[in-house]
Amino acid sequence: MIEKDILTLGIESSCDETSAAVLRGGRQLLSNIISTQIPVHQKFGGVVPEIASRKHIVNVMPVIDEALSRANVGLGDINQIAVTYGPGLVGALLVGVSVAKSLSYALDIPLIGVNHLEGHIFANFLSYPDLEPPFVALVVSGGHTALVHVKGYGHFEMMGQTRDDAAGEAFDKVARVMGLPYPGGPQIDKLAKDGNPDAIDFPRALSKSRGNYEFSFSGLKSAVLNYLNSMEMKHQTIVKADVAASFQKAVTEVLVDKAIDALSETGLDKLVLAGGVAANSSLEGRLKHAATEHGVKFYFPGLALCTDNAAMIACRGYYQSLTGKYSALYLNAEPGLSLESRMD
Ligand code: KG4
Ligand code: ZN
Repeated sequence: MIEKDILTLGIESSCDETSAAVLRGGRQLLSNIISTQIPVHQKFGGVVPEIASRKHIVNVMPVIDEALSRANVGLGDINQIAVTYGPGLVGALLVGVSVAKSLSYALDIPLIGVNHLEGHIFANFLSYPDLEPPFVALVVSGGHTALVHVKGYGHFEMMGQTRDDAAGEAFDKVARVMGLPYPGGPQIDKLAKDGNPDAIDFPRALSKSRGNYEFSFSGLKSAVLNYLNSMEMKHQTIVKADVAASFQKAVTEVLVDKAIDALSETGLDKLVLAGGVAANSSLEGRLKHAATEHGVKFYFPGLALCTDNAAMIACRGYYQSLTGKYSALYLNAEPGLSLESRMD
């Protein structure tokens, strides 16, 4: 079989989306089905892990069937299975991992355990067929914030990550205290459009230390909480749109500054944005602007591939398979798996 014809079935169930995708070769996406649980968790103000696992169990086979049928292929046509094995919620991950292992065993085809965060970066290869490493990737999701020097398809160098909260986590927590529904990121994004980003001067931690690619968002989150509390105590009107816009500006400014700094240090001319927070309109706009100003090409996977999906997992899995990075059937869920420097 020629590599470009290999069919990879991707499975993703690390948090609150059950997803399956069929990919031909490395970049030709035949289907990508995402069943979101957001409405289920919304009434609790966040993801309830036990409910998430149960919903994945109910959804996973119908989602796989739908992905196969949209791709116009059968299970017998699939050559390999890529599945997210971490990071994420352990019970949720186990559903995808168990199904992938069962299918791999039953069909006698290789299994490929994929790091979800690497998957987010690879979403960009699906949106840009000509994109090749090396580049700098800014990974901003609900659980992680990192700048990665992607030197090759299996060669990553961690430049820096968050010391505490992830950017998405800060968005969700700030939204929650402002009484906005889960997930908070898109809500803040929407509200900020009507606000003044310069109304409140929130702190930008670690922003002045050039060459330091670590982030910290927990102080910013506390500053927003303190602001809201003190305004309430003084019986002053809180303009939520201004709070959202000012908070969003504080987050995005740090992300943009550090990404541009990382590009000058590495001398690279490609910047790739990845992860759920990439869907933030202000972050995308500011990064694109800064990249253009610095003569850097900017890549953004598009809204559908920013948030969790199995297409990016299939894509990462395909490139792992090229270097023989398969998994054994004792593959287990690794909820705390990190994005680390490594060379396959
Ligand atoms: O990558 P992702 O789908 O899941 C994880 O791997 O964590 O990211 C989810 C995160 C959530 O924190 C959500 O609030 C955030 O991405 N997010 C956004 C936007 N859309 C999703 N944050 C800011 N602005 C958005 N438009
Ligand atoms: Zn994710």
